[in-house]
Amino acid sequence: MGPSTHAADITDLLQRIALDIAALPDEGAVAEYIPALARVAPRQFGIAVATVDGAVHRAGDADRAFSIQSISKLFALALALQREGEALWQRVGREPSGTPFNSLVLLERERGIPRNPFVNAGALVITDVLCRRYLQPERAVLEFIHRLLGRVGVGIDADVARSERQHSDRNAAIAHFMRSFGNLGSEVSALLDAYCAQCAIAMSCAELAQAALFLAADGEQPSHGRVLAAADARRLNALMLTCGAYDAAGDFAFRIGLPTKTGVGGGILAVVPGRMTLCAWSPRLDATGNSIAAAAAIERFTAETGVSIFR
Ligand code: DON
Repeated sequence: MGPSTHAADITDLLQRIALDIAALPDEGAVAEYIPALARVAPRQFGIAVATVDGAVHRAGDADRAFSIQSISKLFALALALQREGEALWQRVGREPSGTPFNSLVLLERERGIPRNPFVNAGALVITDVLCRRYLQPERAVLEFIHRLLGRVGVGIDADVARSERQHSDRNAAIAHFMRSFGNLGSEVSALLDAYCAQCAIAMSCAELAQAALFLAADGEQPSHGRVLAAADARRLNALMLTCGAYDAAGDFAFRIGLPTKTGVGGGILAVVPGRMTLCAWSPRLDATGNSIAAAAAIERFTAETGVSIFR
């Protein structure tokens, strides 16, 4: 590690970033299409870094749990890859969509095969895979996260799950559409129950950074063991870089230069392969559904430390 990423320096940098973010003007809006998320206090910010040697650095609300939303798609995909292997890629692609995360437009032309596992359509296919293998797929994702953390305690926010489930017409449309093409086996209602519950998992920045460390460590979770083959961990990072921030993925690669996964709860997880994971959270989102302050914080971290996959 370069001098700028020594332990004391990281903590100091995170604290300076938290102060700078607090001084930024309020921009963007909390996710409103999920009523339970619309009630979250917008002026919150947390950031945490977990390094592959086991250290965790924190600033701001780094230990406050928030709705991980689409960041859960990363864990669901890793679990589905463990169970299904290569066959998964017959049902979902690996191309950025250039469309919003909940868009239907490409699905008709591409005959029900979603562009990638991170757009909602792709994530619903992954949930379908898990529905075939588990009675309670959301519990399987949760228990996978418990194994990654080496402890239980992370849970599903039932209010958020119910609230999204009651307002899931768009995801229902996507699921029915894919089912009409034969790319979905589950009953749509059961699929949406599992998907909304999985998205409603609540975790803190520190927990997310720790749970995702295998992505920075060639597929091996420090203190736990192998999660994915090294090649699959590299592929997941590639998908995060190209598709993790949806139609802002190019901008994120340009500004941040790391694989990232975002969620409409305001969290952004980033991976520095071989070194660390980083998670920032702040609820206000831009028009692409990505947290403005969390992106600014991670951009600031990479600018100051020089970490990037492109150096
Ligand atoms: O399906 C949805 O719309 C949400 N449960 C998740 C979307 C999301 O987090 C997109 N990320 N920026």
